[in-house]
Amino acid sequence: MNLQRLRRAALAMTGAVALLLGFAGPGHAAADVVLRDLATAKGKYIGVAATASELNISSYASIAGTQFNSATPGNEMKWESVEPTRGTYNWTGGDNLVGFAQAHTMQVRGHTLVWHSQLPSWLTSGTFTNDELHALMIKHVTDEVTHFKGKITHWDVVNEPLNEDGTFRQSLWYNQLGSSYIADALRAARAADPAAKLYINDYNTDGTGAKSDGMYNLAKSLLAQGVPLDGIGFQGHLIVGSVPSTIQANLQRFADLGLDVAVTELDIRMVLPATDAELAQQKADFKAVVSACVAVSRCVGVTVWGLTDATSWIPGVFPGQGAATPYDENYQPKPAYYGIAEALGWTGTVPAAGCTVTYGVNQWNTGFTANVTVKNTGGSAVGGWTYPAGQKVTQAWNATVTQSGTAVTATNLSYNGTISAGGTQSFGFNATWSGSNPAPTGFTLNGTACAAG
Ligand code: XIL
Repeated sequence: MNLQRLRRAALAMTGAVALLLGFAGPGHAAADVVLRDLATAKGKYIGVAATASELNISSYASIAGTQFNSATPGNEMKWESVEPTRGTYNWTGGDNLVGFAQAHTMQVRGHTLVWHSQLPSWLTSGTFTNDELHALMIKHVTDEVTHFKGKITHWDVVNEPLNEDGTFRQSLWYNQLGSSYIADALRAARAADPAAKLYINDYNTDGTGAKSDGMYNLAKSLLAQGVPLDGIGFQGHLIVGSVPSTIQANLQRFADLGLDVAVTELDIRMVLPATDAELAQQKADFKAVVSACVAVSRCVGVTVWGLTDATSWIPGVFPGQGAATPYDENYQPKPAYYGIAEALGWTGTVPAAGCTVTYGVNQWNTGFTANVTVKNTGGSAVGGWTYPAGQKVTQAWNATVTQSGTAVTATNLSYNGTISAGGTQSFGFNATWSGSNPAPTGFTLNGTACAAG
């Protein structure tokens, strides 16, 4: 939205009712957009990662369960989570994720069995012979895949086995067992659940390049040896404006080996604070990645690594960066969400940014002071406001407030016509009243209904 338009935007008030709580909020996707339905129509799944604590957030759970048809546990199936003490399994987090998925008709990507990270300390600080370590790995894979047998459609059996130059990463597994640990883990997983699709998963393999070449050569060699490998996962931890142009061709070359492919952990980060231009670019970027999957028939689906900027892992691991997911911190769909929808065939109009309005009033017997705060909860800047009231406005500040009957219109002044993403603008007025002095309802901002804040 350009500034010229912002400055012309106006705030109009319509009618008045007694209850602030009656406001219709914008906090949902356009009513007709359901990502999972769009994905299904394209023969793909659309997935979301969720940790145990995220599943406890009602907004997270309700959006995950309605918009997505695949779920990946963020941490709960990792070795440190399932076997924090040697020999004592804790399946609670994984079971809960599976239960949530089943209750919402979602499939589950199991993540992850053999990785260098998030291992229990008894394993990383223990001393094991090569044979002992091999046996521990096989037991872990066997026990975990067996526990979840029949409930997991895809397993990330081996995670992040490669260096940036495409060689094998020095890890507990590689250093002691050599590269054959990968084939052995895959074989153990196949034996434990023959129906699950078995994947190797890595990052910075999304476009062609040395690391992707390493993965390609690994996959080819495993297939040549008859190792049970069904697919390759491309994590898709990307930076805004830097989606590899070769992503589709890269996915396709793995598909041409006879493998399935999936984008397993898509997030697209930026330096904070996010600008409108970056959020628009992020929309294009999400669209490009999902479009690449749609264009490759053996691409089974795309999973986003986190639903919302409110809980994303990015700011904790990449200081100063974030805003990497399709929903903002208030669980409002961002432009990126609509980028995913468009890649999945949606052709609707992206709604204006969301907003909430907080209306506070101090009243005395015949007069009152109202303070109004408009918050932009959408992904892009908006200007001006609209809200309803009644009563007779006598004086205003930080806005031009006009009244026609019960309809009141407030228009921003020159210095506060823009509300940045996540930002607020406040204004107020004095008014007189008689009879009753209800809070206004039906706030709209440039024609978009705003929720009560
Ligand atoms: C991340 C989780 O999102 C965080 O909560 C956790 O602290 C660290 O791991 N590649 C992977 C994922 O395969 O398992 C990682 O998940 C992100 C990078």
